[in-house]
Amino acid sequence: MFSKKLKTAPEGYTFDDFLLVPSRSSVEPKDVKTHTQVSRNFTINIPIISSAMDTVTEAEMAIALAQEGGLGVIHRNMSINEQIAEVKKVKRSGDLTIRDVITTKPDASLREVHEMMDEEEISGLPVVHNGKLIGIISRRDIKPIINSDPQKKVREIMTEDVVTISESTTPEEALDIAYENKVERLPVIKENHIVGIVTIRDILELKKFPNASRDKTGRFMVAAATGPFDLERAMALDDAGADIIAIDCAHAHKPNIVKFAKTIKENIEADLVVGNIATREAAEDLIAGDVDGIKVGIGPGSICTTRIIAGVGVPQLTAISDVADVAKEHNVPVIGDGGLRFSGDVAKAIAVGADTVMLGSLLAGTHESPGEVVIMNGRKFKQYRGMGSLGAMTGGAGAGTDRYFQEVKGPMKHAKLVPEGVEGVVPYKGMANEILFQLIGGLKASMGYCGANNIEEMQEKSHFVRITSSGMKESHPHDLLITNESPNYPTTRLM
Ligand code: XMP
Repeated sequence: MFSKKLKTAPEGYTFDDFLLVPSRSSVEPKDVKTHTQVSRNFTINIPIISSAMDTVTEAEMAIALAQEGGLGVIHRNMSINEQIAEVKKVKRSGDLTIRDVITTKPDASLREVHEMMDEEEISGLPVVHNGKLIGIISRRDIKPIINSDPQKKVREIMTEDVVTISESTTPEEALDIAYENKVERLPVIKENHIVGIVTIRDILELKKFPNASRDKTGRFMVAAATGPFDLERAMALDDAGADIIAIDCAHAHKPNIVKFAKTIKENIEADLVVGNIATREAAEDLIAGDVDGIKVGIGPGSICTTRIIAGVGVPQLTAISDVADVAKEHNVPVIGDGGLRFSGDVAKAIAVGADTVMLGSLLAGTHESPGEVVIMNGRKFKQYRGMGSLGAMTGGAGAGTDRYFQEVKGPMKHAKLVPEGVEGVVPYKGMANEILFQLIGGLKASMGYCGANNIEEMQEKSHFVRITSSGMKESHPHDLLITNESPNYPTTRLM
């Protein structure tokens, strides 16, 4: 009876067990499109998401990802207020419109206005009377008069004919209007009231990131993690402007989690992504719970020890393909989370049905991850730890304990925890955009080999060949001494 369990057990495969087969192709890598669905209502331009881990994603990483067309998930190992502040930092940094507009009144003196401009480090102020915009005053207007007549009133020298735009004006239109009228800043007007200001400098800055992930109002997109039962956090993040809330836990295939996910979804406007899972049955249950996205991965991560500590998991390529089979029928996007080491792994994850992949270790060593660079034996590293590691479980806001369903009461915390992750360091890799460039370059090359013009075609058209360990050995550089590390063949060996 017991032997049947083993005899009927299916095989599980991961990235190194397969290679993509080159197909007849007229697709040039430079021409492929990498936009993809990250959740039911959001598309991003590259299929890369950063992990909700306290050594990977805070605002700086989320901004770097959004600038390049990906998405960052702000971790939850901090207080709700701290997490909200990180979400707002991302939203503010990608906002073309300055929304906390500092204004002045027509009766203010030039000295007052001058002081305010110095204090706030701005060079122009809209003039508002009874809530309505009646003029604009700039440093240039004040300069010739400030010394001789500092008490002069704003209304006497302000420009009354203010060129304005509306909320629906596109950045291109705004730039044309600003150049045509030779003005540097354009107040944004809604129902006669000033709701923001757009400057030429900000529009030009925006053009530096044509691929960026932006929400409906043009701000950077950001996601944020919450615990499976933390409605208060989910609602607060939603209010703060998070586009996607990600329920982050080690095992989401639990009826109480699926049930509570529904409650969370009913109380937020953001899309709700739920994970992690690794089986078809779990996908069916989450989809029945009406989630907007599914995250897959039980134990594939570089810092994970779940498979060793609990003996549980599903090799990641099998897990993604099983979940994607079910999710595709319901148009629910799938995130392949953990275990990716090379751009080729990103390509394989997508080919078996992932719409996006979530990266921890590949991004943890970049400039934008939280934490300092440490130098060991003359080489630079950054700390990287599992959210189920002792350090993450006992530090921060306790997200680690909750992620792994562990409760800590009273003293001797360490002895009462069973970690499912480890702490270590990864080589420092410079700026995140350089890593993303290499990853997307590798993915595009793969799509060229497979004859796929876009992510959907990559999922539909690509084929695999099952390989042996000798096949994998042959795949890596061999029989030579590598003296010069290639940027897209990163080694994770310490020294
Ligand atoms: P990579 O391989 O990209 O994996 O470093 C990152 C993903 O690993 C998950 N994660 C953990 N899994 N124990 C686990 O079993 C942990 O302590 C742990 N911390 C993170 C998570 O899904 C992340 O995105």
